[in-house]
Amino acid sequence: MKTIIEPFKIKSVEPIYFNTKEERIAILEKAFYNPFLIHSADVLIDLLTDSGTSAMSSNQWAGMMQGDESYAGSPSFFRFEEAVQQITGMPLVIPTHQGRAAEKILFSILGGKGKYFVSNTFFDTTRANIEFSGAEAIDFICEEGNHPTTPAPFKGNMDTEALKLFIKEKGATNIPLCMITVTNNSGGGQPVSMQNIRDVKKICVEHQIPLFIDACRFAENSYFIKLREEGYASKSVREIAYELFSYADGCTMSAKKDAFANIGGFLAMHNEELAMQCRNLLVITEGFPTYGGLAGRDLEAIAIGLNEVMDEHYLQYRIRSIEYLTNKLIDAGVPVMQPAGGHAVYIDAKKFLNHIPVDQYPGQALVAALYVHGGIRSVEIGSLMFGKYASPEEGGDEHQKLIPAALELVRLAIPRRVYTQSHIDYVSEVIIEVFQNRNEIKGLIIVEEAPMLRHFTAKLKPAP
Ligand SMILES: Cc1ncc(COP(=O)(O)O)c(C=O)c1O
Repeated sequence: MKTIIEPFKIKSVEPIYFNTKEERIAILEKAFYNPFLIHSADVLIDLLTDSGTSAMSSNQWAGMMQGDESYAGSPSFFRFEEAVQQITGMPLVIPTHQGRAAEKILFSILGGKGKYFVSNTFFDTTRANIEFSGAEAIDFICEEGNHPTTPAPFKGNMDTEALKLFIKEKGATNIPLCMITVTNNSGGGQPVSMQNIRDVKKICVEHQIPLFIDACRFAENSYFIKLREEGYASKSVREIAYELFSYADGCTMSAKKDAFANIGGFLAMHNEELAMQCRNLLVITEGFPTYGGLAGRDLEAIAIGLNEVMDEHYLQYRIRSIEYLTNKLIDAGVPVMQPAGGHAVYIDAKKFLNHIPVDQYPGQALVAALYVHGGIRSVEIGSLMFGKYASPEEGGDEHQKLIPAALELVRLAIPRRVYTQSHIDYVSEVIIEVFQNRNEIKGLIIVEEAPMLRHFTAKLKPAP
């Protein structure tokens, strides 16, 4: 049998509310051309994020009924703790209400002015938390990772030569931590190989720099290793994940991704001293160490989800469904990130809309066009998200010269276990029709923006 079916039956459904193109034009204008400002009831297919949008399983819902809401020492916490310990091999587990809360705690302790944190690519909240502490966040993505449409098996790998040079230049004592993001969300959901993690670990050990994993999509990354890396085909995803974590001193995780939970996250680590500092901060910012900003029922959902995600029938369907959409777009000539990533399809907006200059945000213009044409909500991962204005030393003046991001991507993140093949077929039709009429799309300019994470709230309008 060639067809890979959704490995689940649907027990409960949510209606989609349909609207017309004319209505969507008005909605978009009212939302200042920012998908984050559109009401979700006005969206037909919501591919804004795969975060917190998963369909939970009947086991997870059943687990939620078992949630024990005791302030301290809840059995739900111990089930959650055991699940994390078994998967990561890390003994010290600290729950948080989501991934960025774990990051905030970690980088408030380790960060500060004059410090540098290094990664394959930091996710935007991770970068923001580092910069908020006064430290700098530096990405060293491998060369293949800079070429969206050129296929390579592990485009999420870290550039180890650049890492070594940077350590030499800045001194290991100024680098409190190295973090590998699996899969690399900001770089196309591309996986990191086990060999690369091993190589980075070796460099970190030589310089006594702790290695942490941003583990949001550890199961998707582990499945790619199984498919693509020599020596792993006959290993289970659980074994691969365990090995992956074995090279790390700790991890942060948003359970809203590969744990199929609607909320939640955690920190896990080996170092007692650091864990104690994290727990001290946790009590002030999140809650007591056995719930850390989560209800007992959320801890149950995460514990069950973390184990469910390693089901290889699920992972086969998951990875294949992203590839299915990617391949349909490739066949129609749409420039997309290749090969397909783990949780999303990424369109190269710079190529798709090569008539729109980067300071008119081609990615955001494409996001707007996909919404108007088919009611699809996507997100720009380009210069609106990562662009910066040049400082006077960099040639900037009051006209705010944009330093663009390395890539102008539009991400269509696929929520886990939510949409069926016909939804995905519809999405591909919408994108292909927009592509055929791409010359009609106009750029956008910003009219209002926040100083950090501006893409969430920025207001835009069509360029004159
Ligand atoms: C790689 C990565 N790290 C961290 C986060 C932050 O997690 P959260 O949204 O739970 O704060 C995300 C969320 O999208 C992510 O993709």
